[in-house]
Amino acid sequence: MTLTLKPLHPVFVAEASGLDLRQPLCADDITALVAAMDRYAVLVFHDQPLSPQEQIRCAEQFGPLNPGLKQIGGQAQRLAEPALIDISNVDADGRPLARDAKKIISGLANQLWHSDSSFQSPAVSYSMLSAVRLPSWGGETEFSDLRAAWDALPERLKRQVESLEAEHFALHSRITILGDSSYTAAQQAALPPVVWPLCRLHPGSGRKSLFAGIHAQRILGMGLAEGRMLLHDLLEYATLPQFRWTHHWRVGDLVIWDNRCTLHRGRAYDLDEPRELRRTTNDEVARTDRAAA
Ligand code: OGA
Ligand code: MN
Repeated sequence: MTLTLKPLHPVFVAEASGLDLRQPLCADDITALVAAMDRYAVLVFHDQPLSPQEQIRCAEQFGPLNPGLKQIGGQAQRLAEPALIDISNVDADGRPLARDAKKIISGLANQLWHSDSSFQSPAVSYSMLSAVRLPSWGGETEFSDLRAAWDALPERLKRQVESLEAEHFALHSRITILGDSSYTAAQQAALPPVVWPLCRLHPGSGRKSLFAGIHAQRILGMGLAEGRMLLHDLLEYATLPQFRWTHHWRVGDLVIWDNRCTLHRGRAYDLDEPRELRRTTNDEVARTDRAAA
């Protein structure tokens, strides 16, 4: 079988077919998939209903798995596999959780534009999200292309931003919607922020990307208010309609995106209806292959 791509967006999203992700991929398939991810940044596979173990095995072919941010002071993990991130609104019996559950708050924070785990170092690369149960309306996932956004940024802003760095904090998105009194000083201190340049070079494509998103809470060397206004402005550029695409989920879809050059956000849905997706996220691995290419 060979990987076949059909563009869904002129710049950065393609529908991918021709691979059975339940089976181990051969070296050529992996090379083709990585090349497709470098050319695009989001790939959509339909009709790939992977079991938890199959999804983990598939993702592990692209590097070690990142455990993500586990619930802070929340309930026990629902999924048995620590490598899987539970993107759902349901309890262990599959029933929608109460609206004030920490997991629901995390899910709502996922509706703000972000790059997964940008509050951690080392960096992550791909996320793979698979759809298990879906609500009757809403719950789409939107993506934006940070390379195209960088390219289109006005020259003056490019020059201003090129040397700037932003601090990314795990709780900033939650605090944005809840206020900081909802997390103790100890909980906040347990997750020290990390710093990323606002202009990141994407290793696979060699392109620059505008690395904005809700985890960025301040700009180094700038006053808090001025830095936050610049972050707001950059996020607006990064998510202009022309750089954006909406995925309407079907059960059995698996979507792969590159967190180094895209942002994404979930969209609202009826929280009384179950919505269940499973995610893996890869730590970034060095590209020795490209040096030889
Ligand atoms: C994620 C995420 C959004 C959604 O899985 O990382 O942000 O639509 N998901 O559930
Ligand atoms: Mn996410």
